[in-house]
Amino acid sequence: MKIIYFMMQYSRRFLVLAIVAGVISGAANTALLAVINATLTSSQYQRSTLALIFLGLCLVVPLTRVVAELLLAHLGQGALFQLRMQLSEQILGVPLRRLEELGPHRLMAALTDDVPSITNIVTVIPILCINIAVALSCLVYMGWLSWPLFLAVIVIIIIGIVSYQLPVAKSFQYMTFARREGDNLFNHFRALTDGIKELKIHADRRKAFLTDNLQTTAEGFRRHNIAALTIYTIAASWGQMLVFVVIGLLLFVLSGWFGVSTMVLTGFTLAVLYLMTPLQVIMNTLPNMGRANVALRNVEKLGLSLESSPTEQDSKKLLGTGAAWKSLTLSGVTHTYRREGEESLFVLGPIDLMLRPGELVFLTGGNGSGKTTLAKLLVGLYTPESGEILLDGQPVTADLTDYYRQHFSVVFSDFYLFETLLGLNSEELDGKAREYLRQLQLDHKVKVADGTLSTTDLSQGQRKRLALLTAYLEDRPIYLFDEWAADQDPHFKEIFYYQILPELKARGKTVVAITHDDRYYNVGDRIIKLDYGKTVYDKPVTEFAAVLNEMPVAAQ
Ligand SMILES: Nc1ncnc2c1ncn2[C@@H]1O[C@H](COP(=O)(O)OP(=O)(O)OP(=O)(O)O)[C@@H](O)[C@H]1O
Ligand SMILES: [Mg+2]
Repeated sequence: MKIIYFMMQYSRRFLVLAIVAGVISGAANTALLAVINATLTSSQYQRSTLALIFLGLCLVVPLTRVVAELLLAHLGQGALFQLRMQLSEQILGVPLRRLEELGPHRLMAALTDDVPSITNIVTVIPILCINIAVALSCLVYMGWLSWPLFLAVIVIIIIGIVSYQLPVAKSFQYMTFARREGDNLFNHFRALTDGIKELKIHADRRKAFLTDNLQTTAEGFRRHNIAALTIYTIAASWGQMLVFVVIGLLLFVLSGWFGVSTMVLTGFTLAVLYLMTPLQVIMNTLPNMGRANVALRNVEKLGLSLESSPTEQDSKKLLGTGAAWKSLTLSGVTHTYRREGEESLFVLGPIDLMLRPGELVFLTGGNGSGKTTLAKLLVGLYTPESGEILLDGQPVTADLTDYYRQHFSVVFSDFYLFETLLGLNSEELDGKAREYLRQLQLDHKVKVADGTLSTTDLSQGQRKRLALLTAYLEDRPIYLFDEWAADQDPHFKEIFYYQILPELKARGKTVVAITHDDRYYNVGDRIIKLDYGKTVYDKPVTEFAAVLNEMPVAAQ
């Protein structure tokens, strides 16, 4: 099983040690049983020796058990830690397009449902190991007492387990159905939290949401879970009865058939009674193992794997902001959005584009013309389907992608604001941040201390200014803004186009600004217009002279 392989990878030495301790503990446990049985049928003379052995075993059993459990707990927690870190690193390594196709709800369901299933089993494996050791040594003892009786008991136990496992398997089938409804429920809850304003304001929509969506799914979830639980409870009580079925057969039927001694019979009865707890633990945990494997497969379907290391780390040695660049070329670059069951595809490109240091480029075009898509290609978040990106004439291959991305500071329209200035370690960070806050006219709202922003609970336009602050502090050679000014007030729009952009340009930065604000075109060097994913024109601003003359003069 993959999960065990994963744990072995984590620490083979610990695992071996823990299993050895577990096996000793299990064997000592059974030896205790044997001593009890021997004492029941022994003479007075033998008793003192047996008492000594009994005492000794009473020490060995808990000691070895403690050692085994502690070692395994250590191992389990260590593997758990590694699993969480590795999965998170891998999510960061999955291509953006793949994550977008999956949708955030699938990713969240995986993180909140599947990952706990996997991590749960990692903590359960220790218990499983110890119980397997106890059960095995019990079986060895029975075999040592009487072979034929042992075989007969084994056959009965196997029949018992099968008759117990079949309904349990059925109940798990219902649990799978329930889990599927659980996924849907998760989606509805997302709609509930994200769409709360829309739901509150429209009574009919709210009612329809509650009855058609939420209630139907929650009802399905309830039905399947009740079915699963009913079957499981019946199977579980049959499982408990099985102990006495085995003992009954042993006492009343098998003992007569095989003509065994009282000592063998009491030994067997004790062993069977003793065996049942570990056996039950094993049977209860094995399905978890199955579930963890399903979860593992789910996680792998997301494009994550526990075996390969994250790709994003590979180019770490190359990291740097690569300040000295001369040209960036997109040559025949294309991207296609494919969606299942959808006929009309959107194709961007082929796009040919050349950027140089210190250029201020406006990228424009109607809604859905492909501006954001081009931006994602340009900054290396999407891999071109065909064509290539060249930095200083060198093609940006897969192993260079991460290095390439470090050239950009980006504010997307759906940006995320971190509360701390993560990954920015300049010495005068706070000072610089304060200076920029003042420039962005946010100094009365937000304070910075030790790289932490005092708040991000601001208006949309203000939050965007904070995103710009991060971009400023990143101080990368190429800046990309996706409709940054769209929700700024007219006053700050002017500041953006007439101060911020020219200042960046003056600092030698290249700026690509996606915009619909044609009245500010005159501050740029070039305008690129897209339509239906194709370049309509890519011209220097001077060619727009006639149009620009009619525009208001820049308030420099
Ligand atoms: N996540 C996606 N999945 C599938 N298709 C998409 C996705 N995002 C965009 N598209 C398609 O790509 C086209 C271009 O989208 P894009 O976001 O690049 O446009 P845009 O020019 O930035 O538009 P806007 O001005 O509205 O921001 C859209 O018409 C849409 O059909
Ligand atoms: Mg867009």
